[in-house]
Amino acid sequence: MAHRKGRLEDRLDEEAAKYTSSLLFDREILEAVVYVNAAHLKALARAGVISWSECEEAVNHLADMLRMDIDYTRYELEDIHMIVEDYLASKMPKAAAMLSLGKSRNDAVVAAVKIRLRERLISMAEALLGLVLTLLKRASEEADTLFPTYTHLQRAAPATFGFITHSYAIRLMKLLPRIKHTYSLCQDSPLGSAAVAGTSVGLDVSYEAELLGFSKVCENALEATASREFIIDALCLCAETALVISCLAEELVLFSSEEFQLLELPDSLSSTSSIMPQKKNPVVAEVARTKAAELLGLFSSAYLMAARQPSGYNLDLQQITPKLWKALDEVEETLAIMAKAVEGVKVNRERAALACSPPTAVVELANYLTLKWGIPFRQAHNAAAAVSRLMAENRLNEESLKETLERYNIPGGAVSMEQLRELLEPGKVVRRYATPQSANPDKIREKAGVMSYEAERELRWFKEEGRRIGEKLRNLLGSS
Ligand code: ARG
Repeated sequence: MAHRKGRLEDRLDEEAAKYTSSLLFDREILEAVVYVNAAHLKALARAGVISWSECEEAVNHLADMLRMDIDYTRYELEDIHMIVEDYLASKMPKAAAMLSLGKSRNDAVVAAVKIRLRERLISMAEALLGLVLTLLKRASEEADTLFPTYTHLQRAAPATFGFITHSYAIRLMKLLPRIKHTYSLCQDSPLGSAAVAGTSVGLDVSYEAELLGFSKVCENALEATASREFIIDALCLCAETALVISCLAEELVLFSSEEFQLLELPDSLSSTSSIMPQKKNPVVAEVARTKAAELLGLFSSAYLMAARQPSGYNLDLQQITPKLWKALDEVEETLAIMAKAVEGVKVNRERAALACSPPTAVVELANYLTLKWGIPFRQAHNAAAAVSRLMAENRLNEESLKETLERYNIPGGAVSMEQLRELLEPGKVVRRYATPQSANPDKIREKAGVMSYEAERELRWFKEEGRRIGEKLRNLLGSS
C-alpha cells in the first residue's frame, strides 16, 4: 500500500477515517482522476523523471481501473486519489512513488471536478434543450388552441396553450448562456498549483492542460486550489433551472385539477390513491415542483460551506463537491421527465375556450371605444367594467348595453351587441393581438419555428463539444 505516514505516529482512527473520507462521493470523479494522473505521468516522462515506456505501462494500468470494481470503502486511503496511487503502487511501485511529484490532491481534485463538471454541463444542456424543443413543438401544434392566462390567479386575457409553452421555452433558453458561462469557468487547468503556492518542479503544465482539454493554465495557484465559485455558479444555475421547472410543474398540477379541468396529464405519469379509486394524482409534476426547494438547499448549503474559508485548501471544500453532483442529477432527471409530461399533456379544449369567453377579453371593448370613438381610455374602461358586470349577471342585451354606454357619456350606438360579440370572441381576440410578443398564433408559430432551429443548432454545438472533449480524454489513455 502507498502508505503516507508523514509526521504522524498513529494511524488515523477508523471512525475518523470514514468520517473525513470523500470516497463515497468520489465515484463520480474516478474517470477524471485517472485522466489527471495519466496527464501527470506524461508530464513526468516529458521532464525525464520517468521513462516513456514506464509512463506507457503506468497509463495502461490506470486505464484498467476504469473497468475494475473499485472498493470505495477503503476509508483509510481517504480518497480516490490515494486509491489510484495505491493501485499503481501494487503494479509499478517506482512510477507510483513519483505520482505526487509536483502534484497535490488539492490541485488534482479541482482538475478532476472541472473535467467531470464539463461533461455534466454538456448533458444538462442536452436535457434542457430537449425540454425546450418539446415545449416548442407543443407551441407550434397548439398555437391556435385557446387557453386562458391569469394574473393574481384570476382570469386575465385569452391566449393559447402554445403561447404558454413558448413562454417556458424562452425561460429555459435564457439559461443556456449561463450553462456556457459555467462551462467557461471549467477551462483553466489547476495542475502546477500543487498544494497551494505552485511548485519548484518544472513540469510542462501547458502540456498537461492541453492533454486534459483545458484551454489555458490557471493564473494563480491559491485561487485555483482554494476557490469553489465555479461550483457555486453551477449550483445557482441548477437552482434557477429548477425554479423555472417548478412554475411549469405547478401549472400542470393546478390546471389538471378537478376545479380547473383545463389540462389532462397522461395516465403513465399519474398515480392513483390507495383508498380513493376516483383519484388521478399528478405525482410527477408534484415532485418536479418541489425540486426547486431541494436545489435551493443544495445551493445554499454549498454557498455557506464555501464562505469564510481562510487562505488555501481546507477540508470543508471537499464537502461541497457532492452537493454539485446531487444537484446535477436532480436537475437532469427533472428536465427529462418534464419533457415527457409536456409531450403528453392534453388540453381540454372546450373548457379552455370557455375560460377565454366573455367577459375575459372585455378590455377589447374599452380599446375599441377609445380607438374608434376617441373616448378617453379610463372612461371606456369604466364603461367596459359595467358591461362585464352585466355579462356576469346574465343581464346584457341590446337595451342594457345602450343604457350603460350612455351612463358613461358614450353614444349608445357606439357598439352593437353583434359588434361586441365579435370584439370579445376569443379566437378573434388572439388573432387581433398586434404586438410582436403577443399570443397571436401566427407570431407564436413563427417564433417557435425560428427558436427550434436555434435550439437544434445549440444542441449540435454541445454534442460536438462533448465528442471533442471525449475523444481528447480517450486519446490520453491510448498509446502514449
Ligand atoms: N478528497 C479531497 C477533496 O475531494 C481532496 C484531498 C485534499 N486533502 C488534503 N489533505 N489536502 O477535496
